[in-house]
Amino acid sequence: MSPNIVGIDIGSTTIRALELRNADKGKPIVERFFEVPLTEGSTRRGEVLEVGTVASAIRRLWSQGGFKSKDVILGMGGPRVLSRDLQMPRVPLAQIREALPFHVQEMLPVPVAEAILDFYPVSEENGDNGPVINGLLVAAIKEAVSANVAAVTQAGLRPVQVDLIPFALVRALAPRGSGGLTAVVSIGANTTNVIIVLDGVPQFVRIISTGGDDITRALASRLNITPAQAEAAKREIGLGSSSIRPEQRPAMEIIYEATRELLTAIRNTLSYYVNSKPGSQLQSVVLSGGGSQLIGLGRALGEVAETTVVQAEPLGGAQLSRDAKSRASREQMDAMTTAFGLAVGTTV
Ligand SMILES: Nc1ncnc2c1ncn2[C@@H]1O[C@H](COP(=O)(O)OP(=O)(O)OP(=O)(O)O)[C@@H](O)[C@H]1O
Ligand SMILES: [Mg+2]
Repeated sequence: MSPNIVGIDIGSTTIRALELRNADKGKPIVERFFEVPLTEGSTRRGEVLEVGTVASAIRRLWSQGGFKSKDVILGMGGPRVLSRDLQMPRVPLAQIREALPFHVQEMLPVPVAEAILDFYPVSEENGDNGPVINGLLVAAIKEAVSANVAAVTQAGLRPVQVDLIPFALVRALAPRGSGGLTAVVSIGANTTNVIIVLDGVPQFVRIISTGGDDITRALASRLNITPAQAEAAKREIGLGSSSIRPEQRPAMEIIYEATRELLTAIRNTLSYYVNSKPGSQLQSVVLSGGGSQLIGLGRALGEVAETTVVQAEPLGGAQLSRDAKSRASREQMDAMTTAFGLAVGTTV
């Protein structure tokens, strides 16, 4: 029997982990999942700043969540990870990966030596100088990755792999066979991931530095209320219009304004891709992340982006152990999408 594997999603406000039983045959089974809050300032947009603080949060996560395995797959996202289109001559993948440092310096904000580079093939074609592979360059700043690895190691765990959060989302929400050109949009607290997918293969990845907390912050500062009050108002009012009391109007206007900025950023990202590929048309948007729970958000995105928007199936309909089932609400499961996609990466 292969050992269980745990996906860890270090977010801006919460760490989440999900343990998968690596069934030798058939679908993997979700054994357990759990989350603990992070103290403010210990991470920034998914990047560990205080290794010791985060390591003790992870230890707490392991004991309270009852995780059995120490083998973890760590997700990376945020502004210090970037992904760009890249065309390379068609040679074996290993050779492409070796050659990356010599091709990508001008695309990076740091010296090549300070980045971890990888390449994911998307399509092949015949270029002017022979066959080429179009793909995605993924570059992460070493320093950012090593702080996260250090926190996990200091908590006594074994990081067996580091993976990009957008790729994890694709595995969880738009696996092979889901057909057509689809966009996965995951709105978190401070980051929004947008991935364009064709039959399970990511074509384009953008990590936008805005999310649901921007709406909360706008409410708090403009209405001069506490973050907790702002959060409650946001969840209650959302983009609703019919049952709004008159005194809730000012808050609703602020929510509309802040949401419009977020939706415009998403729409611009989608149309940037579609316009760069003549003839391509988006079939649908699969929406996930806590930020997507805002009342009316799915409909508003559908209008702005002129496409069908569907709310993601939590955990992509994965099989759950009895233990996991007994404590899971839909919202809790939805929050585990990234951790699930990370863990499932080793089994598909
Ligand atoms: N019912 C709701 N209505 C509106 N917003 C909500 C609701 N539930 C959660 N949110 C918002 O979702 C966001 C948190 O989403 P999520 O848990 O996906 O983020 P995260 O993974 O912690 O953040 P990040 O990935 O950016 O680090 C917060 O901004 C929160 O206010
Ligand atoms: Mg997140």
